[in-house]
Amino acid sequence: MRRAVIAGNWKMYKTIAEAVEFVGKLRPLVAQADHCEVVVAPPFTALRAVAEAVKGSRLAVAAQDVHWDKEGAHTGDVSPAMLVEAGCTHVIIGHSERRQDHGETDENVNRKLKAALAAGLTPIVCVGETLAEREAVKTVEVLQRQFQGGFAGLTPQDFSRIMIAYEPVWAIGTGRTATPEMAAESHRYLRGLVRQKYGEELAGRLRILYGGSVKPDNIVGLMAQEEIDGALVGGASLKADSFSAIVNYRRA
Ligand code: PGA
Repeated sequence: MRRAVIAGNWKMYKTIAEAVEFVGKLRPLVAQADHCEVVVAPPFTALRAVAEAVKGSRLAVAAQDVHWDKEGAHTGDVSPAMLVEAGCTHVIIGHSERRQDHGETDENVNRKLKAALAAGLTPIVCVGETLAEREAVKTVEVLQRQFQGGFAGLTPQDFSRIMIAYEPVWAIGTGRTATPEMAAESHRYLRGLVRQKYGEELAGRLRILYGGSVKPDNIVGLMAQEEIDGALVGGASLKADSFSAIVNYRRA
């Protein structure tokens, strides 16, 4: 049985003050959610304050990106050790907005992934096809390429510490969710790739989250799919009532 994970990706939203206020509201609303792990991913500036504000709660803190070097002349970047020091336990890597806005490649994803693991962080690695790729029936090809490139050279031990988020780009922020069946089909394909490379046991343990317009009214249907182990939530993670409703899907 894989333990579910509900993660909120705040993207470029919330000042430090807003972030701390939000967490104060969220904490009691998710205090009974024993059925899943709950992660929030604030922008860099609010990481430390949020990590302080979640102490003693069930909430874990993720960064939204990381650099692969320990330190160096990389203006605007943040190292794995800096994230750990700020109180992060998780990090999102390879989000499609990073791939689109910053030209991130599978090779970059791979370097970031290895650096995050070396620092003891739990990576949440995003993969997924664009609308054009889906329409051209290239979903499987894209997932295979992202898996091969992004996850290259990992030992089974490394791999056992990773989560994957399947996020079809056409479903992000568009209100157009993949149907639970469509999502499950991609998850099944990804798990099959993992099985081929790392065997049955690791494939069976891997948590694959779905992301793309997850809302309180579609989470139950998504989580009913055996293949879907959780959600990476953008827009609906910004309000305490909608995010807690998603976290508490079991009790809905
Ligand atoms: P969305 O974003 O829930 O707003 O579609 C998901 C994501 O980008 O992780």
